[in-house]
Amino acid sequence: MSDDILGAAIDAAARALAAATSVVVFTGAGVSAESGIPTFRSGANALWSNADIAQFANPTGYRRRPHDAWSWYAKRAQVAREAQPNAAHHAIAEIERRVSSFVLVTQNVDGLHRRAGSANVIELHGTLRRARCFACSRYSEWPEPPGEPTCGDCGGLLRPDVVMFEEMLPEGAMEAAIDAARACDVLFSVGTSALVWPAAEIPRAAVNAGKTVVVVNPDLEGHPWGRTTISVRGAAGAVLPRVVERAWNREQR
Ligand code: OAD
Repeated sequence: MSDDILGAAIDAAARALAAATSVVVFTGAGVSAESGIPTFRSGANALWSNADIAQFANPTGYRRRPHDAWSWYAKRAQVAREAQPNAAHHAIAEIERRVSSFVLVTQNVDGLHRRAGSANVIELHGTLRRARCFACSRYSEWPEPPGEPTCGDCGGLLRPDVVMFEEMLPEGAMEAAIDAARACDVLFSVGTSALVWPAAEIPRAAVNAGKTVVVVNPDLEGHPWGRTTISVRGAAGAVLPRVVERAWNREQR
């Protein structure tokens, strides 16, 4: 995208934001890429490019290789803990402070949105801040150091409180996110390939309801399954602060 075209897209996104009273932001791994967290399907370190790992990212595979699985998730939890929210996370938190109705729906489990100050957050795929027991379902803070994956209460197998392949999303999360997407004025879809269902149903619900949908992604023109109103082909950390800045400056003029 040339600088002129990128500038025009940022301007269009800023106009949509300035006119909105109700905003939904839907995020994926790309929003944390500039914090040094690998995405799932893009870049040299893409998590799912390692077939071995993909094997235990489901409950059956996890139980089969609990120590490998636990240490892989523990490493991801450590990377997330040591990472810092970037300019995109901060810009999204700023949008929440500025508009009267705001919902952030994230597929990320790294906790960076909350650390940047976002409050109304639906963590669709759970979080690496917590562990829970397969056997007694007790939740606990992620243990540090992680040690053995053994529940302190019942001796059962510990796992991260994240959604694995073949599992249901947290109860009520999809319904709340879809309702917000249908009711908003504008939905920003940031840093996601939007290939994973049912999560991708959320931006699609906004598209189908005729809402303004802004896709922010350096590699994609839009989502594969529907119309995007505005496509901003840039890195989230570079683009979103500019969108926010222009939206509120315009308002003051
Ligand atoms: P993906 O890895 O599928 O997509 C990340 C997207 O971010 C890609 O389209 C990149 O082009 C884009 N991207 C990279 N750097 C960016 C940047 N600086 N700014 C903006 N965009 C950037 O990750 P997700 O869409 O999050 O689920 O994947 C969805 C789900 O698939 C994950 O939550 C995970 C995975 O299986 C579970 O683990 C349940």
